[in-house]
Amino acid sequence: MASKNLENDGLKELYTDELKDLYHAENQLVKALPKMAKAATSEALRQGFEEHLEQTKEHVQRLERIFNALDESPKGKKCVGMEGLLKEGSEVMEEDFEDAVLDAALIGAAQRVEHYEIAAYGTVCAFANILGETQHASLLQETLEEEKKTDEKLTELATKINAQANEASEEIAEEAMEKQKIRPRRVA
Ligand SMILES: [Fe+2]
Repeated sequence: MASKNLENDGLKELYTDELKDLYHAENQLVKALPKMAKAATSEALRQGFEEHLEQTKEHVQRLERIFNALDESPKGKKCVGMEGLLKEGSEVMEEDFEDAVLDAALIGAAQRVEHYEIAAYGTVCAFANILGETQHASLLQETLEEEKKTDEKLTELATKINAQANEASEEIAEEAMEKQKIRPRRVA
């Protein structure tokens, strides 16, 4: 029996560690989303980032509720995964992309973040269930569903924005070709 308890403690410890990691991840995202919203040129994308910022603040609060119930501090872990994803996202913003291309790149960065969160929430949700923490599990499940919906919304936005980005690139290429054509015609 003693070894079974130890196993449970091990999983519980892993569970709270992963929750702390998520807490740090969500807080990093709260800081990054306003920058992404500011960088977006599509109004729909900007709005999407702002809405997700409000949701993300709630995600932080849900985690705080869980830590309250556990009587533990949510602090103490650094999420290097999210740090890396957001660093790549900020690199995108520094590039000199044309508007729709920049938006397409921002969507790519945001979807990487969502997929990371979906994986992390899926994991802690499964841990909460097996540990018998049903209230935690339903809070975590709510967040998981919101992350999935955000990802779907980004996919929808990408359909239109990627097409615009492609058109813009084609226009630039055509203009360049036209310029080359016009010169010899003027001579003729
Ligand atoms: Fe979140």
